[in-house]
Amino acid sequence: MPKKVVLVAGASSGLGRAVAEALAEAGHTVYAGARSFARGKEPPTGCQALALDVTQEDSVRAAVKAILDRSGRLDVLVCCAATFTMAPLEELPPETLLDMMNVNLVGMARCVQAVLPGMRGQGGGHVVLFSSLNGLFPIPFQGAYSATKHAVEAYAEGLRQEARRYGIRVTAVEPGDCRGGSRAYRLTHIAEGSPYTAAFQAGTAKIHHDESNGLPPQRVGRAVARAVGKKRPPARLVVASLDQRAGAWLHTLLPRRVFDRFIEAYYR
Ligand SMILES: NC(=O)c1ccc[n+]([C@@H]2O[C@H](COP(=O)([O-])OP(=O)(O)OC[C@H]3O[C@@H](n4cnc5c(N)ncnc54)[C@H](OP(=O)(O)O)[C@@H]3O)[C@@H](O)[C@H]2O)c1
Repeated sequence: MPKKVVLVAGASSGLGRAVAEALAEAGHTVYAGARSFARGKEPPTGCQALALDVTQEDSVRAAVKAILDRSGRLDVLVCCAATFTMAPLEELPPETLLDMMNVNLVGMARCVQAVLPGMRGQGGGHVVLFSSLNGLFPIPFQGAYSATKHAVEAYAEGLRQEARRYGIRVTAVEPGDCRGGSRAYRLTHIAEGSPYTAAFQAGTAKIHHDESNGLPPQRVGRAVARAVGKKRPPARLVVASLDQRAGAWLHTLLPRRVFDRFIEAYYR
């Protein structure tokens, strides 16, 4: 398998870190980007750390330039950076929704725009965008996060259609619940005396339980490393337990009102 030069954006914790380590383990040259590397956080094993803030155009451009200066090319971009606030949609501050969009979707777009000219110039590349099973179906109190991930799904599909002619492949990764994600990025917002309090507490407790008992992040890391090694990588990569995959199938198959009742009962 030819060895590649890879940038993983959002590689300081959770799935991004596991992906960076799996790619380094497979022998690729891996640049791990995140804000906390500028504050001295240890890079993932086998990777070179880069300070990267996907909300800042200059930071993204500087990181890509540093890679091109050091390695002469960039073959693969993996975008994992994301933030996540659970809240009743009625109470979610619009600024919080904008912040999530800015990292989860627009930050991704900044990275993509910075790497595409180089990939086109070298005749190809691979862009791996982290969506979620929540990019396929939302759940209560994750509606805003799900909206950002639905947007990622559409973005990935549009990019795939546009970039294929330049030999650039696009993979949307749709993980189910995985353990190891940093608590720092799992915020909650609920108004004092909110009518949603009881449902919110039950729903978020279930979400925390499912994540804590989710797949090990290394499983996603290995799946992405396999996809990166392929000549024809998949357009979509679901990495999830059978019951969570079943949730996605049911969402497609069942009438929406029936699916809503199923979800309501699960998170009650
Ligand atoms: N964990 C799961 O169960 C799960 C399930 C489905 C999908 N996903 C998706 O998988 C990806 C990783 O999630 P995770 O839960 O494993 O990770 P996480 O522990 O929540 O880590 C988030 C990462 O994003 C980075 N980040 C946040 N804001 C950033 C910014 N402005 N610029 C650059 N990097 C930024 C953080 O690094 P710094 O703070 O150091 O910048 C960190 O490395 C996300 O896209 C998430 O939506 C996760």
